[in-house]
Amino acid sequence: MLEKIEKIKADINGFSGISDEEIEAFRVKYISKKSIINDLFEKFKKLSVQDKKKYGQTLNQLKRLAKDKLSSFSNSTKKQDAKNNSTDYTLPAEDDTVGSLHPLRIIRNKIIKIFRDIGFSIEDGPEIEEDWYNFTALNFPENHPAREMQDTFFISKNPDVVLRTHTSNVQIRLMEKEKPPMRVIIPGRVYRNETVSAKSHCFFHQVEGLYVDKNVSFRDLKDTLYYFAKEMFGEETKVRFRPSYFPFTEPSAEMDISWKDGWLEILGSGLVDPNVLKNCGIDPKEYSGFAFGMGIERIAMLKYGIDDLRLFSENDKRFLKQFRGVR
Ligand code: DAH
Repeated sequence: MLEKIEKIKADINGFSGISDEEIEAFRVKYISKKSIINDLFEKFKKLSVQDKKKYGQTLNQLKRLAKDKLSSFSNSTKKQDAKNNSTDYTLPAEDDTVGSLHPLRIIRNKIIKIFRDIGFSIEDGPEIEEDWYNFTALNFPENHPAREMQDTFFISKNPDVVLRTHTSNVQIRLMEKEKPPMRVIIPGRVYRNETVSAKSHCFFHQVEGLYVDKNVSFRDLKDTLYYFAKEMFGEETKVRFRPSYFPFTEPSAEMDISWKDGWLEILGSGLVDPNVLKNCGIDPKEYSGFAFGMGIERIAMLKYGIDDLRLFSENDKRFLKQFRGVR
């Protein structure tokens, strides 16, 4: 028996396998229930008390030796792995696994909820758009300076195809397709050929609103937008309408909200110009409507105290993770 033990000892000491298969074979041969060392222990049980004394210690040492050898292998493979991946497994994990909603998404969702609660549905439309939908049907006259109010990215000239400069294009698409009454909001991305800076960007997001029915008045417009302002900015919020100009509304107004000690412009609005209704095959003698358009970035900047538009599209985690848990 001693001879056998010595032989196994020598084998174990001489073992130099490194692959996973070799190490597993080592485990089966020397450690597992079916191992040759286990066999020896079985035989050991049947020995006389005297023999047990003789072999007991050596046999236990052999078992220890096999176990130590196995754990030295798994330690050195871990070290090897760490070297290969240059990853330090002992460092604490970075808490980077939980994402957050983008602030523009949070504000967009809030706007959608506010209007959905009063019966508006949500619509969508193309970002690459024909001149007709982005300008002409919206009552922008050919070569009129109003077109220059919105620096346009052209995809092609003649026929003119543009990156839409506002979400108002979807007003036309919907009114051409459906008959009133309609009550929709249209969130989406828009593009303008502007130099990127803290205050302007070549793309941003708007929410358009459109309500067309019989006898829609300016009063309906004001009620709706006043309700929106209170829901979005708080019950105490006051609103103020200032006369303005948009080709597609008549009359047109910009709405300000009370903010800190003053007023801040928040959206453009007006009653849908009869020409626009006509362009879409809707009789302006029978129907009237109101429309409005607001910038999502602007509202997010106000609500979260953000002062640089570029932050919204840089995907800087230090910025984004501040919105963790905000819905
Ligand atoms: N389209 C306008 C813009 O981008 C915003 C706007 C103003 C939309 C008045 C409207 C409206 O529907 O009635 O500046």
